[in-house]
Amino acid sequence: MKGLILSGGRGTRLRPLTYTSAKQLVPVANKPVLFFGIESLVAAGITELGIVVGDTRAEIEAAVGDGSRFGARVTYLEQDAPRGLAHAVMIAEEFMAGEDFVMYLGDNLIAGGITGLVEEFKQRRPNAMILLAEVPNPQQFGVAELEEDNGDGPVRVKRLVEKPPQPRSNLALVGVYLFDRNIFDSVKRIQPSARGELEITDAIQDLIDRGFEVHPHKVQGWWKDTGKLDDMLEANRIVLDTMPLTGAGSARLDAASRIEGRVELGAGVELIDAKVRGPVIVGAGTRLEHAFIGPYTSIGESCTLAHCEVENSIILADSQIRDVDRRIDGSLIGRGVRIVKSKLKPRAHRFMLGDNSEVEIV
Ligand code: G1P
Repeated sequence: MKGLILSGGRGTRLRPLTYTSAKQLVPVANKPVLFFGIESLVAAGITELGIVVGDTRAEIEAAVGDGSRFGARVTYLEQDAPRGLAHAVMIAEEFMAGEDFVMYLGDNLIAGGITGLVEEFKQRRPNAMILLAEVPNPQQFGVAELEEDNGDGPVRVKRLVEKPPQPRSNLALVGVYLFDRNIFDSVKRIQPSARGELEITDAIQDLIDRGFEVHPHKVQGWWKDTGKLDDMLEANRIVLDTMPLTGAGSARLDAASRIEGRVELGAGVELIDAKVRGPVIVGAGTRLEHAFIGPYTSIGESCTLAHCEVENSIILADSQIRDVDRRIDGSLIGRGVRIVKSKLKPRAHRFMLGDNSEVEIV
């Protein structure tokens, strides 16, 4: 079995970060979202990986390389424009060479990995397996309608619709799919959707229409599509809650500093009169001075946080936050950002923000 990871797309819902970085490389608990997917494929014994890339190819390639550090062999498959998930499957046909494969959307995170799912697929041998999760906002996903079998539970997928305005169920398609070679005919048979893309949802519907077996598997644990800020923060909370954290390591703490709860502090982290209340992860070389870092915060490498309080936030590498009176909460702060108190007159907020930035002031 091979793996197909989708790592293209424009990431419009995470602008401005995605003007300069692929959405799949935005970190959760200081690790690019994409790496979680690669690791769970490798853990399931799938090491031949095709990664579909678009405009952000160079960056994805720089981060993932040839895959050897994950124990995988990576081939990059270029998609000329975001033409949809089914189009990505189409361009992967030659790479798959008739083998079964797992398609994994590079911005999805799924609890407990996919090893059990791959085993189930191998045992049952359907033509496709889809993962479903109950969501409060099914309009924003592909939605499955199942046929109940005399109350014995769902057995068959009746219909799949991409982002229906009036969903017939609350079962969303999770961004992990298992296919045999029949999907390659289906992706050629469908037409572009209203958003101008070839939808994988429509291709799977075509499998159903042609009488192939599409096995639905309801996801028990959590699942997140990290395409938006709130989902990103939630994924960060869940991962920090569930991953083992290695502790304070070789970090230097002065006598006034305190650590509560579970933390992971990278090499050379320095705390001066700082309090860290986990779960929190801090990258190498970051300085925390007269600061409070509250639960569910991930701070990248080489940041300085001084005279400020931060919680429930993701801060990327090389950023500085100094002398901010109010606590910073629920924030996603990009690389090399400076948030500082100004001594200039007049007393005013002064911003230099990229396009589509968002600032909320209370
Ligand atoms: C895609 C699929 C959708 C699926 C979702 C899962 O949506 O088209 O069916 O539910 O991924 O993350 P997109 O992220 O392209 O809007």
